[in-house]
Amino acid sequence: ALRASFASKAHSKDRTIRYNLQPQASFRVAVLGAAGGIGQPLALLIKMSPLVSDLHLYDIANVKGVAADLSHCNTPSQVKDFTGASELANCLKGVDVVVIPAGVPRKPGMTRDDLFNINAGIVRDLVSAVADNCPGAFIHIISNPVNSTVPIAAEVLKLKGVYDPKKLFGVTTLDVVRANTFVAQRKNLKLIDVDVPVVGGHAGITILPLLSKTKPSASFTDQEIEELTVRIQNAGTEVVEAKAGAGSATLSMAYAAARFVESSLRALDGDGDVYECSFVQSDLTDLPFFASRIKLGRKGVEAFIPSDLQGLTEYEQKALEALKPELKASIEKGIAFAQKQT
Ligand code: NAI
Repeated sequence: ALRASFASKAHSKDRTIRYNLQPQASFRVAVLGAAGGIGQPLALLIKMSPLVSDLHLYDIANVKGVAADLSHCNTPSQVKDFTGASELANCLKGVDVVVIPAGVPRKPGMTRDDLFNINAGIVRDLVSAVADNCPGAFIHIISNPVNSTVPIAAEVLKLKGVYDPKKLFGVTTLDVVRANTFVAQRKNLKLIDVDVPVVGGHAGITILPLLSKTKPSASFTDQEIEELTVRIQNAGTEVVEAKAGAGSATLSMAYAAARFVESSLRALDGDGDVYECSFVQSDLTDLPFFASRIKLGRKGVEAFIPSDLQGLTEYEQKALEALKPELKASIEKGIAFAQKQT
């Protein structure tokens, strides 16, 4: 089954997370930006994984206390803290999965693109260190604007001669998590069963939930499609406004990022049934990067699911064409930024 829900997989009977289990695998995970609003709860959720042996937490400040605190949880992984650029290389050596939620979040009135000027440079520098110290790792980019920061990361890795497009991921899991939640609520479906693929990118209209591909199959009125699509696209802004200046989604994001980490670790561990949506280098459309459902394997992206983009409804087809110019511009902005630096 193409089911990829954190809840359904992580809590199925053979994968129950028990907090004092012996490790089931020994992967090393690093979180860069670990003292932040996303970083802290994400580190906690990763600390609960029986697949992790070492959890490396990096930030420019305040990470020592986070690591000391988490290290008291009686779960298998060893937690280590790393502060500032001089400790970044040691944080990254030997790591299998690097998760990057470093950077500034939105405030009310801001778009994700407004974050570009600060976050582009942060992602460039962190990915450069990843290229030098753990070039074979899976890289999960959370820092916004994802539509641009993933292409920046790709350029940096190319310049260093270590780019593997199968291992660079923009984290769009939160869009899927939101789509699943909102659709289950609206259609009164059992939440754990619902899976809605979300394609395109990770900002505004570039977020395209494919409601016609919802599993289990559900039928929607035109009004439901419009309302659900717009709500999923603006869900991040819903949180930004509710937080009223205190940041953007952190807890649901940590949950979503932890699901993507867990899926990656299961794939690395040889599980042959791991599917997630992610913003990756892609041939599915004429754009160089595109979010879609992918099959994850030991080497990263193992396969795309082209049938997800076939048989779209007229609404989805139009939305797909409408998002392309914005997504293309964001990708090109990222590439231009990275190339200008050299
Ligand atoms: P935050 O401000 O609470 O935390 C960011 C952390 O990054 C801070 O601890 C800060 O010290 C650290 N940081 C800054 N520069 C750094 C550097 N050079 N190296 C290492 N760490 C550095 O922000 P929050 O809420 O955790 O958000 C982080 C990012 O995640 C933002 O860019 C936000 O837009 C993005 N985000 C992405 C989502 C997605 O779906 N992909 C959803 C929600 C947020």
